[in-house]
Amino acid sequence: MDVLHIIKTDHDRIRQVLDSFELLNGVQARRKAFPELSREIETHILLEEGYLYPEIADLFSGSQILVDIGRACHAVISKTMKSLDKALDRPSSEQDLADKRFAELKEQILKHFQSEEEQMMPRVRQLITTQEREDLGQVFADAKDLATKGELTLADVSVPAGKKVEKRRKRA
Ligand SMILES: [Fe+2]
Repeated sequence: MDVLHIIKTDHDRIRQVLDSFELLNGVQARRKAFPELSREIETHILLEEGYLYPEIADLFSGSQILVDIGRACHAVISKTMKSLDKALDRPSSEQDLADKRFAELKEQILKHFQSEEEQMMPRVRQLITTQEREDLGQVFADAKDLATKGELTLADVSVPAGKKVEKRRKRA
């Protein structure tokens, strides 16, 4: 499957997860839903930083800047996620901070997705062949599978694109 299709589908699912989270009533429901939100975001970051950004860093003039902005946005999003996690541990009478953190997180994620969809993805579609996008899609699918099983984390992917998954696939 085309990697761009996978990314867009993931973005839409995370948008839905954010909307559902927003509608939840009470800290207990939010506390319970947080791991899913957190896992979805972590996987998004892991796949892009591990397997997409290394592929596009030299692809076109200005692509390195887009990759740097992407990484910076991911770092901000991760930080806000951690703050939200902590804020959700406060008693229900003190959930104002969690509300604020969630609003920040949602805004950061939506802006980031919009910039990826409007600036990065059209260039990738233009400059990477369909076959290569399909191959990268397979790498994404394999990495996602490992991440879901807890066998691949962000710390594992600070290696050149695809290497980790290839290695793990050969061993399997
Ligand atoms: Fe991203």
